[in-house]
Amino acid sequence: MTSNITNLDGKRAGRYVGTAQRRIDGRLKVTGGAKYAGEFPTPGLTYGYVVSSEITHGKITRIDASAAEAVPGVIKVFTYKNRPKIASDDKKYQDQTAPPGSPMRPLGDEKIAYAGQPIALVVAETFELARHAATLVHIEYETKPHKTDLEAERSSSYEPKEKRSGIAPPPPPRGDADAAFAKAPVKFENEYRVAVEHHNPMEPHATTVVWHDDGKMTVYDKTQGVQNSQNYVTGIFGLKKDDVRVISPFVGGAFGSGLRPQYQLFLAVMAAMELKRSVRVVLTRDQMFTFTHRPDTIQTLGIGADKDGKLQAIRHDAVAETSTFEDYQEVVVNWSGLLYDCANTKLTYEIAKMNVYTPGDMRAPGATLGVYALEAAMDELAYATGVDPVELRLKNYAEKDQNEDKPFSSKELRACYRQGAERFGWSKRSAEPRSMREGRELIGWGMATGVWEAMMQETSARATLTAGGKLEVAAATADIGTGTYTIMAQIAADELGIPIDDVTVKIGDSSLPKAPVEGGSWAAASTGTAVKAACHKVREKLFNHARKVEGSPLANFGIDRVVFENGRISVSGDPSRFVTLADAMAATGEREISAEETTAPDPETKKKYSGYTHSAIFAEVRVDEELGVIRVTRIVDAVAAGKILNLKTARSQILGGVVFGIGMALHEESLMDKKLGRFMNHNIAEYHIPANADVHDIDVIFVDEQDDKASPIGVKGLGEIGIVGTAAAIANAIFHATGRRIRHLPITIDKVM
Ligand code: MOS
Repeated sequence: MTSNITNLDGKRAGRYVGTAQRRIDGRLKVTGGAKYAGEFPTPGLTYGYVVSSEITHGKITRIDASAAEAVPGVIKVFTYKNRPKIASDDKKYQDQTAPPGSPMRPLGDEKIAYAGQPIALVVAETFELARHAATLVHIEYETKPHKTDLEAERSSSYEPKEKRSGIAPPPPPRGDADAAFAKAPVKFENEYRVAVEHHNPMEPHATTVVWHDDGKMTVYDKTQGVQNSQNYVTGIFGLKKDDVRVISPFVGGAFGSGLRPQYQLFLAVMAAMELKRSVRVVLTRDQMFTFTHRPDTIQTLGIGADKDGKLQAIRHDAVAETSTFEDYQEVVVNWSGLLYDCANTKLTYEIAKMNVYTPGDMRAPGATLGVYALEAAMDELAYATGVDPVELRLKNYAEKDQNEDKPFSSKELRACYRQGAERFGWSKRSAEPRSMREGRELIGWGMATGVWEAMMQETSARATLTAGGKLEVAAATADIGTGTYTIMAQIAADELGIPIDDVTVKIGDSSLPKAPVEGGSWAAASTGTAVKAACHKVREKLFNHARKVEGSPLANFGIDRVVFENGRISVSGDPSRFVTLADAMAATGEREISAEETTAPDPETKKKYSGYTHSAIFAEVRVDEELGVIRVTRIVDAVAAGKILNLKTARSQILGGVVFGIGMALHEESLMDKKLGRFMNHNIAEYHIPANADVHDIDVIFVDEQDDKASPIGVKGLGEIGIVGTAAAIANAIFHATGRRIRHLPITIDKVM
């Protein structure tokens, strides 16, 4: 059943929640005990190798796999010519996070819509044989002109007709932004660009399908949502839930790349069903550049203000690429109507079709781009008006969500500015660009604001307490490296007053209680609430039994008058009167007590309040004046995200987000060869990401923020907020250091020289 819990937290202070806890899965991960999708062994396994299109747009005119199939050990080569008919050829199926449109089904026909499109799967007895045979597949193409230059396609951009579920379109105009902009004493309008970025998690996308003799499958998939993958497989191949179990206990990084089922899942399942054998398909590193990516987006941002920096108008337009077959959308411009108090705003968002795979979610999708432009423009306003950047933001502080005309559920952004500035030493900054240096390095200090939605989704969880006093909590959620296992154990241990070592967490299995994909920073609030509710139910059941134990000192007390601590249920304020969990369990006469609960956000609260996380990021850069080398030597990120469940994993989340932001500011760049229409640097030798030497001091502050509305457990989520604003803070610091305003990220050496 669904219970809309308003507040389960009560007055009890937990022993684990709110403290720094080591990851309960940490040991497995560092010892190699944790298995990933491409590692699960199974007898008789076959290996699939994907052949990718060499052209960008057109069709296959001839495909000849005879040489490949003649290689001893090669089992079959699948192409569009012999692909088995599948259920979704007749029926449209879209996955949980699909944008509107017609999802690409691999090997569907001879048409090529983008470079790197999978066009054949070679299945062999060994990986090496499959890889070798893949080079022998002979393909001839007919090419058509391709569209891969957003600048050129800008003229054909359009407002998406069908909106992507969960993605708010831009709010309607407020006031008259054009008139206010025209009249504003201080104004400017600029274009901002961020390079296309590709996901490069350590673990590439992979699927191992274990074929069982009864025709059922166990599918090990790299995914952020096992039930999303399960529904995709059953929906596409016309199977029953019972036929397919998807398992993904560990994810070697994903951050959006694992939200949608990817083509290796399709191909592995297709081959397994046809061959009635187990099949593994692992994408190569360069094939990781053939699907989801942060979309190329051109942003134009205009700001009008009075001489003191009070905002009078904001205009923010974005045009983003999408594929020819789906209308991908993300929230890019809405932040400009939300983050600051401004009476006149006009925000537009359009997309343009190109010959690329459908772009996808990548850590703080939309906000990462839009808030970068806004915060870079705010910095320009600070210099144009001579107002200190922090002062400027305080002057324009938004007390309510103007896009939706609602109060915030909580907003401690002022505390973020204050505590961040203090820790950073912002007051010692000399405002003039190029005014701080040490040796041949110019020093720059910049700052920015970050913002992300605080979301919660309907989620189920089960808690089971055994006679031995061990507790198992389970939900079909994922841990993409963020710490889900650990926070679930913390919440569960506190609810029943047992040691964290007595809690086992089960996730990443489609047979567990229903959970959405782990994304959007909602997993902690959603799964955490469900785990707490399920454990609470076990607690109630157990208490009822404890009262009935012979001579129970709890007989005359209600559950609100007892505490669960150290494996005992005792009278509040009188620890000498207690019943042990073991005695209470014995009284049940059962081997275990189990409860499954489903929790969801309270619709009334959701209607009344806007929930967001906020941050203030301060960055120091040092720029070698002769070589142009930029180092981000110091970051202070002050974050307001409601209750922090685990100080250690929470800090790690922010560190990861900030490093992602450093990559966006200085390194990451998928370079499109416009002539060929394909990304040139499809490997991590040439696609640069921050290495250890690029990451220096990162100081994370969690400011106190009480919130009883964003989620019943007071949690707002931390997955995305670490990246939002970080690149802007760095770009702003580079301006302060060098006097150069660079509006195209990444800021590489050639741009500052
Ligand atoms: Mo994140 S882009 O919501 O996985």
